[in-house]
Amino acid sequence: MTFEEALKKLIPYGQEHLLRFYEALSSEEQRDLLQQVEALDPKTIADLYQRLVVHPKTHIKDSLRAMDSVAFQDLDEAQRNRYWQSGLEELQKGHVAAFLVAGGQGSRLGFDGPKGAYDIGLPSGKSLFQLQAERIAHIQKCSGGLIPWYIMTSPQNHEETLRFFQLHNHFGLDPEQISFFPQGTLPSVDENGRILLADKGRISANPDGSGGCFRALKESGGLKDMRRRGIRWIFFYGVDNALVRVCDPYFIGFAKEQDKDVASKTVRKTHSAEHVGVYAYRNDAPSIIEYTELPQELAEATLPSGKLLYGSGNIINHVLKLDFLEKALHFEAAYHVAHKVVETVDEAGQKVRSITPNAYKFEALYFDLFRHAQDMALLDVERREEFAPVKNFEGVDSKDTARQMVLALCTSWVRALGLTPHREVELSPLLCMYGKELEANDLQERLDASPNGAIE
Ligand code: UD1
Repeated sequence: MTFEEALKKLIPYGQEHLLRFYEALSSEEQRDLLQQVEALDPKTIADLYQRLVVHPKTHIKDSLRAMDSVAFQDLDEAQRNRYWQSGLEELQKGHVAAFLVAGGQGSRLGFDGPKGAYDIGLPSGKSLFQLQAERIAHIQKCSGGLIPWYIMTSPQNHEETLRFFQLHNHFGLDPEQISFFPQGTLPSVDENGRILLADKGRISANPDGSGGCFRALKESGGLKDMRRRGIRWIFFYGVDNALVRVCDPYFIGFAKEQDKDVASKTVRKTHSAEHVGVYAYRNDAPSIIEYTELPQELAEATLPSGKLLYGSGNIINHVLKLDFLEKALHFEAAYHVAHKVVETVDEAGQKVRSITPNAYKFEALYFDLFRHAQDMALLDVERREEFAPVKNFEGVDSKDTARQMVLALCTSWVRALGLTPHREVELSPLLCMYGKELEANDLQERLDASPNGAIE
């Protein structure tokens, strides 16, 4: 694309300022900027700005209806075993893939690297990625099947994620079973809808939100690869839950028996303002209403029993039918807008970082796809067993709370065997994921011999 062609593309949308430092760039930088303009879709950005910033739709008029769930704790032993066996069978046949969205920026955490590389301070020093990889290895061992693992990164953390896995020998998994692919980006705009420059020759590019994952999976060839491998069920999850039971056979069995397009694990909200999305039918379509969008009076509404009406919290644990995903991908992604601080350059080309939000970022949320599902099935699970979010640097949902939860769970399993650990215990997921795998045999000796409470 030539400079003139770039200008012609930008002028109708009032975005020609993107070329205002063109003369000051080196010829290599000029070429690079023209390529960015070529890849840009100014019409989409203009539409998003009009729709989401200038004429935002309020959700107040949407009608919400609560969604029923099945509580895992209420199932009898026989039913649980049936789910377990049926899940194992699907896993053994190679019908299940794991799909991780790990493109988030971890800004709340104050951590620059890929969030999955974060060390929550366990005695073993294991990262979130390692905990997940070892759970995959554990389930592979239980089932005898291979679990292909698709990991969505972002352009910002892609290389570092690859290096992290290489450095750790893919945590003992076969590198061939893991695919990494970056999500797409979208530019941010200022208060007037003008696309921001991140630098004189660089258009701002932010990850396009977790909802970018399905398109990215398709464009990377991941969807075809799933078909080729005979996948039927996709275990979809987020990177920042230290207790996530990746490809849990109970859950796969539940999804199979319920036979809905989407099955989801939920936990009951601790209080009405907890930062978790909630499940509901929105205008009769199965949905998750994000915590930022649920009006307070609905968040606080209760049933006669005193339980929250919209109390099933999203822990980003889903089983999607591959058939459903392929169909749903024909629909356009819905976008949300966030008012944020984005680094940019001033009129003189100097970098500036505003203290107050200066930009609108557009993001797609993965669960907006669920409204195309015929229906959903919810499985309520125990928070202490399955949900230890790592969102903030300190306090609520931080590495400290997550570490305490992992240790408390492992320690409770050991105590249930009648053993008396002298400190809190960390059990490798390779050894134990549910507690039921443990045998008292030599465990007390190993506990006594462990210098820090970690048992491999
Ligand atoms: C998320 C859920 C919320 C849920 C809570 C539980 C969304 C939109 N919200 O909130 O309903 O109750 O977790 O902990 O999912 N990600 C990307 N690319 C992006 C943005 C995010 O891959 O561009 C990934 C993150 O790495 C993470 C997941 O998506 O694995 C969710 O992150 P985020 O969008 O920050 O949502 P939360 O506010 O954490």
